[in-house]
Amino acid sequence: MSSARKILVTSALPYANGSIHLGHLLEYIQTDIWVRFQKQRGHQCSYVCADDAHGTAIMLRAEQEGITSQQLIDKVNAEHRADFDRFLVNFDNYYSTHSEENREFSELIYKRLRDAGHIATRNITQMFDPEKGLFLADRFIKGTCPKCKADDQYGDNCEACGATYTPAELINPKSAISGATPVEKESEHYFFKLQDFQSMLTQWTQSGTLHEQIANKLKEWLDAGLHEWDISRDAPYFGFEIPDAPGKYFYVWLDAPIGYMASFKNLCARRDDLEFDDYWNKDSDAELYHFIGKDIINFHALFWPAMLEGADFRKPTAVNAHGFLTVNGQKMSKSRGTFIKAQTFAEFLNPEYLRYYFAAKLTSRPEDLDLSFDDFTARVNSDLIGKVVNIASRCAGFVKKAGGQLSENCAEPAMLQNAVAMGEQIADFYEKREFGRAIRLTMELADIANAYIADKAPWSLAKEEGKEQEVLEICSVGINLFRQLITYLAPVLPVMSQQAAEFLKLDNLDWDSREQLLLGHEINKFKPLMTRVESDKIDAMIEASKEVLAEEQKLKEQPTGPLAEDPISDEIEFDDFAKLDLRVVTIVAAEHVKGADKLIQLTLDLGGESRNVFAGIKSAYKPEDLVGRQTVMVANLKPRKMRFGLSEGMVMAAGPGGEDIFLLTPDQGAQNGMRVK
Ligand code: MSP
Ligand code: ZN
Repeated sequence: MSSARKILVTSALPYANGSIHLGHLLEYIQTDIWVRFQKQRGHQCSYVCADDAHGTAIMLRAEQEGITSQQLIDKVNAEHRADFDRFLVNFDNYYSTHSEENREFSELIYKRLRDAGHIATRNITQMFDPEKGLFLADRFIKGTCPKCKADDQYGDNCEACGATYTPAELINPKSAISGATPVEKESEHYFFKLQDFQSMLTQWTQSGTLHEQIANKLKEWLDAGLHEWDISRDAPYFGFEIPDAPGKYFYVWLDAPIGYMASFKNLCARRDDLEFDDYWNKDSDAELYHFIGKDIINFHALFWPAMLEGADFRKPTAVNAHGFLTVNGQKMSKSRGTFIKAQTFAEFLNPEYLRYYFAAKLTSRPEDLDLSFDDFTARVNSDLIGKVVNIASRCAGFVKKAGGQLSENCAEPAMLQNAVAMGEQIADFYEKREFGRAIRLTMELADIANAYIADKAPWSLAKEEGKEQEVLEICSVGINLFRQLITYLAPVLPVMSQQAAEFLKLDNLDWDSREQLLLGHEINKFKPLMTRVESDKIDAMIEASKEVLAEEQKLKEQPTGPLAEDPISDEIEFDDFAKLDLRVVTIVAAEHVKGADKLIQLTLDLGGESRNVFAGIKSAYKPEDLVGRQTVMVANLKPRKMRFGLSEGMVMAAGPGGEDIFLLTPDQGAQNGMRVK
C-alpha cells in the first residue's frame, strides 16, 4: 500500500436547537463510512465535529424552555452524542462551538483579517422588535403578503404566491417573537470583504476542490462579483463578543466553521500523535475534507476558504457536498410521519439497516437521495440477509462438524484471487465516495459465492460416504469468500462486521489483511448476524413519528395561553361583522396541492352549490380524513387567484398552527348552506 496519509475529516456542525433526524444522518453516515474506510486502509485519519451552538434561534429556544442557553446546548449536546452513538458514527472528537478553543481561534482569525484590511464597518438599517429589544432576521417577521394578501407569511417570501419582498413591504408586519410591530432601526455592522478574495476563489473553486456541478454554480456567483459579508450581530446574542467592539457579536456562521479547527485542537490536546500545526499550517501536507449538504455550499466554498486564506491558514483539500434526503419520494413531513428522528428510528429498527441503505444509494454527486421504505426493506433483506449472512450460515455448520477448522488448502485459488483483486476496485469506489458502486461490486461477489455454494451443494455431498474432506473444502472456500465480503462491508456495518470477525477469530479487518487467506484456521460457532427488516416495525416507527411531533408541539405552546399568544385585534363595527356570510358546508373532496407545503385543495358543498377552496391546513390534517366532514366557510369572500388555481372562499379554523389547527365543525345535523350567524 502507498504510505500512510494524514487526513482530517469533518461533517457540518448540527444546530444545537433540534434533534438529529434521518436527513442529518445521511451526512454523518456518509462521512463515517469514508473515515472508517480510510482507517481500515491504515491511514492516519481523524474525524471531528461539534454542535453549532450560537445564534438567535438557540437563544430564543432556551428562553422558550425556561432555561439558559448554556443549559440548552449542554442538553442537546448529550442528545446528539447519544444519537450518533446509536448510528455508529464514530467521531474522534465531538465538541461545541461554544468553547474556549473556538473563542480563541475566532478572535485570532478576526484580528488577522482586520489587521490585513479585510474588515469594514458601516451602519445599516434593519427591522427591530421594540418590545424584545432585538433586531429581527426576516424569518422572525410575519405579515400579510403585499402581493396576494395571504396572511401569516414570512418576511422574505410568500408561501402562497411565491412572491419575494423585503420585510418592510409586508402588510401589517409583526414580530414572530413578541407580536409587536417592528420598527426600522440603524446600527453599526462589521463586514468581511469577501471581494478581496475574488481571484483566489475563482481559481480555488475550479481546481478540483468541488464537484463540477457545484463549481459551475459558484462560477455564476463569482462572475456576478462578490460582496461584503455581514459578520456581526448586535446584543442580545448568544455567541462570542467581537474583541474590539463591545455589544457586537460574531454572526454564528463566522465562528461555526472555525469550530472545525477548535474541535481538532481539543482532540490534539489528548493525542500525542496529532499536531495541530501539521494539519492547519499554510504548508501542511495533510489532507482536509469537509462533508456538507448542498444547502451550505457558499459558506464552505466561498467564505471559509477566504477566511482561511486571509488569516494565513491552509485551505480545504476538497468540500464534498451531498444532496437532500427525501422519504417515500417526498420531502420529509411531520404530518405524514416521515420526519423521523434518529432516536425514533433506532427504537424500531437496526441502525445498520439505514447505514447499508444509504451506502447502497450514495454517489459522489450532489443529488438528492430517496429513502423508499419498500425498497429499503427489499434491499436490506435480499442483500444482507439473503446474500451475505446466508453464505456464513450455510457453511459454518459443516466446518464445525469437521472439527471447527478450515481446510489447509484452498480448493478454488482463482476464485479467491479474484475476490481479493475486486477489493482494489471496491477501495477505489470508496475513496471516490462512489459507495453505491462499491456496494454493487461487493454484492456481485456475494452472488458469485452463493452460486458456487449452490452449485456444489455441500448439504447433499455431506450425505454421501467419504466426502467429508470435499465438503470441508467447499465450505472453507465459502467462509473465505464471506471474509472478503465482510472486509468490504466493514466501513458500512461496523457492528455486524465486528461480530463476523469474532466468528472468524480475526483481530481486525484491515483492508490488506484480506490477502492472507484463512487456511487451517480455526473459527467460532456461528451466531445469527442480522435479522430481517419487518415491515410492521416500519409502520410503527412512522406512527410514532407522528406522535412525537404532536407532543412536542403541545410542549412548545404550554407557557402561553391563546390570548397572550395572539392578542385580540382592533375593534370593528357591527356592519363589518354583518358583512361576513358564514355558511355550513360539507367537504366532499380533499387533495394535496402539488408544489404547496401548507395547502390542501377542498371541494365544498354549500347545499347545492360547489366551491373550490385552498386551505393552509396540511400540517394538521390528511386530505382523506377530511372528506365527509362539515365545517364553516366564509362564503362571500372575493375569489382569489392563487398560483394553484382560484380559491372561492375560506374555511374557518382555530389554533396556533402546525399540527394544532382545528377546523370549526358545527353540531351534527346542520344543513349545508345554513347561515351561521
Ligand atoms: N449549523 C449549520 C452547519 C454549520 S457547519 C460549519 C447547519 N446545521 S444543520 O443542522 O441545519 O444541518 C447540518 C447538516 O445536515 C448540513 O450539512 C445539512 O445540509 C444536513 N442536512 C440537514 N437536513 C438534511 C436533509 N434532509 N438531507 C440531507 N442533509 C441534510 O446547517
Ligand atoms: Zn403572496
